Amino acid sequence: MAEPSPLLPATAALADDGRLVIGGCAVADVVAEFGTPLLMVDEATLREQARLQLAELRSRHADSDVYFATKAFPCPGVIRVLAEEGCGADVVSAGELLFALKAGVATERILMHGNAKSDRDLQAALEAQIGLIVIDGFDEIDRLERLATRPQRVLLRLNPGVDAPTHEAMATGHDGSKFGIGGDEIEAAIDRVTASPMLELEGLHAHIGSQILELEPFARAVEKIAGYGQFATYDLGGGLGVRYTLDDDPAPTPGDYAATLIDAAHQHLGTDCRIIVEPGRSLVAAAGVTAYSAVTVKRGAHNFVAVDGGMGDNLEPMLYGQRFEPIVLDAPATRELEEFAVVGPHCETGDRLVGTSPLAGPAVGDTILLPVTGAYCYTLANNYNGSLRPPVVLLSDGSATEIVRRETDADLLARQIL
Ligand code: LLP
Repeated sequence: MAEPSPLLPATAALADDGRLVIGGCAVADVVAEFGTPLLMVDEATLREQARLQLAELRSRHADSDVYFATKAFPCPGVIRVLAEEGCGADVVSAGELLFALKAGVATERILMHGNAKSDRDLQAALEAQIGLIVIDGFDEIDRLERLATRPQRVLLRLNPGVDAPTHEAMATGHDGSKFGIGGDEIEAAIDRVTASPMLELEGLHAHIGSQILELEPFARAVEKIAGYGQFATYDLGGGLGVRYTLDDDPAPTPGDYAATLIDAAHQHLGTDCRIIVEPGRSLVAAAGVTAYSAVTVKRGAHNFVAVDGGMGDNLEPMLYGQRFEPIVLDAPATRELEEFAVVGPHCETGDRLVGTSPLAGPAVGDTILLPVTGAYCYTLANNYNGSLRPPVVLLSDGSATEIVRRETDADLLARQIL
C-alpha cells in the first residue's frame, strides 16, 4: 500500500516504518492490544463530519440543526463525541433514548420517531421530557393524549410520496411505505393535533430513505412538505449516502447536500423556520474500520480468505448487497494482488463480506481491514452461531480507548434460565 486508501478515515497515514496509522495509533498495535474482530473509530473523523454538516447548514440557514440518527451507531461513546460537537440525537425507542441520555445529550435536544412506538417508548420520552416526538399516525395522537401529563411538542411525519433511489429495504417515503401519514390524511392529523390541549404542533417531518446518492429527491421531498401550511419547524430526515468502494462515484458532499436542502427550503418553506436534519450514516460510516484476522486461505478455482467475523458483526452485504473494499494491513510491497472473496466463519454461503476484490497475497494470520464500517454494522451485530460481538475502540491523538468491551461467554449465557 503506497498511500493509505482514501476509503480509510481522514487521519489515516503511513508512518516512517511503513505501518498504517489511524488517529495517531499504529493499527497493528491496536489490533495486538484488543484482538480481532475489532471495530475502530477515528474520533477526528466523527468530529470533522459533525462540524462540517452543522457549518454547511448554518452558513446557509442560521436556524438549522443536526440530530444524529443514533440507530446508525447506538453507542453512548460515539453519541457523546457527536453531541460535544453540537449534534442533538434522534431516537426511535426507549432503548435508543437510554443510549442518548447515557451519552449526556441534553433532553430538549432529543427527538423520537418510529412508526409503532409502544407505550413504553412514549412514556420514556414523556418522562425524560425530550424536545420533540414525531407522530407517525392517528392512534399515536390518542395514545399521547392519554399518556401525557404536560403539553408535549410534536412534529407530524408526512409520507411525501417520493421514490428514493436506493435499496428497496431502505426507501421510506414512497407511496406504500409503512412510515408516516399520507398526503390525503395529513390535514386531518394537523387539525387533530392543533385541537389537542396536550400537544403543541411545531411542524412537519419527512424522511425518504437511506444511502441516497442523488440530491434531487431530497429537494422534491421539501417541495412536498410545503403544501400543508406554514410551520415553525421542518425536520427533513436523514439519508445522505456515502462512498463504500473506490469503484463508486464519490458521494455528494455535505456542502452540496446542505445547498440542495436549504435552497429548496427557502424556495418552498420560506426563510423564517427552523430546519432539522437527522443524518446517521454520513456522520459515522467513514470513521469506522473493522479489523479481522485471516483464519484460513483457500486458493484454487475460487480464492477465499476466511476471517474471524462476518454476518455476526456486519450484515450490510447480506441485507442490502453493500460492497466493501478490503485491505491487507501493512502488506509487504512484494506481494502480488490476487482476486479473493472475503468470507466469515458462519455456516452459510451468504456469510460473505466481500464478493471478490484484489487483495495483497493474503496469508493466515494477516489482519484484513474493512473500511467504511462505521454505520449500522455495530447496530446489527448479533450472536449468530454463538459469535461474540466485537469491542469498539476510539482512536484519537495516539490513544486507543475502548468504549465497548468485547462480548464474553458469560454474556452469551447471561439471559439463559436453566
Ligand atoms: N431519520 C429517520 C426517520 C430514519 O428512519 C433514518 C434511517 C435516519 C433518519 C437516518 O438515515 P441515514 O442518514 O443513516 O441514512 N439498516 C440499514 C439502514 C436503515 C436506515 C433506517 N432509517 C443499513 O444497515 O444500512
